[in-house]
Amino acid sequence: MKLTPRLQTIADSVPGGCTVADIGTDHGYLPVYLVEEKNSPYVIAGDVNEKPLAKAGQLVHSLNLQEIISVRLGDGLKIIELEDRVEVIIIAGMGGKTVCGILEESPEITAGIKMLVLQPMVNIPHVRFWLGENNFAIIDEKIAQEGKHFYVIIMAVPGEGEQLDDVQLELGPRLLEKKDVDPLFKAFFEHKMRKYNTVLESLKGSRQEIEPQKYNYWIRLVNRIQEELKCI
Ligand SMILES: C[S@@+](CC[C@H](N)C(=O)[O-])C[C@H]1O[C@@H](n2cnc3c(N)ncnc32)[C@H](O)[C@@H]1O
Repeated sequence: MKLTPRLQTIADSVPGGCTVADIGTDHGYLPVYLVEEKNSPYVIAGDVNEKPLAKAGQLVHSLNLQEIISVRLGDGLKIIELEDRVEVIIIAGMGGKTVCGILEESPEITAGIKMLVLQPMVNIPHVRFWLGENNFAIIDEKIAQEGKHFYVIIMAVPGEGEQLDDVQLELGPRLLEKKDVDPLFKAFFEHKMRKYNTVLESLKGSRQEIEPQKYNYWIRLVNRIQEELKCI
């Protein structure tokens, strides 16, 4: 199964040989890849909507993988039983608040897992904050690029949550640490810089009075990225 760069980076983040739940599976590509290429003994492919789940079900049947990929309809982690012994939970392609809501609703399931692999589309700082407040340590972060779009993949394990400052929340604590490792990070930080500069310009151009706290927040981000870019 050939995956897009985003899905490939997510799949690469899942340790081999693990029992996995892919929540919001949609097409079902990740579960198939994990059993075919990453030695996963069992994968639960869940989705709250029937139509996307039907796509995943068809793919699983067409490859005769129904013994090792369990396709389940339902909300978030509620489709998982403790007996499933899920080790890794993937939640990808949803908003950050939805991701955290899903995790928050099933603490009995997240308590027993080894790793979360999360790829929120928006509100990524919220996800990092939530992990820190809910005893998950961010062990790694990756970037995937598809055309003009950058995607952030966060790997977290149960453990001591970190208190992150607003720059770390926004840019990613592990990405900041290893910014010189991958040329993609430079492109990602430059992309962020352009985005934050646009926000600053629109704040300056606004006829309403600028809230100093908000303005200083964006200034801090832009300055920090400028510093980071100098070091790459
Ligand atoms: C944009 S798709 C992402 C599909 C795939 N995970 C990916 O990254 O390519 C989001 C999927 O999440 C599903 N979804 C949204 N909320 C959900 C929830 N609370 N529980 C399970 N699935 C959910 C949607 O039905 C949809 O199929």
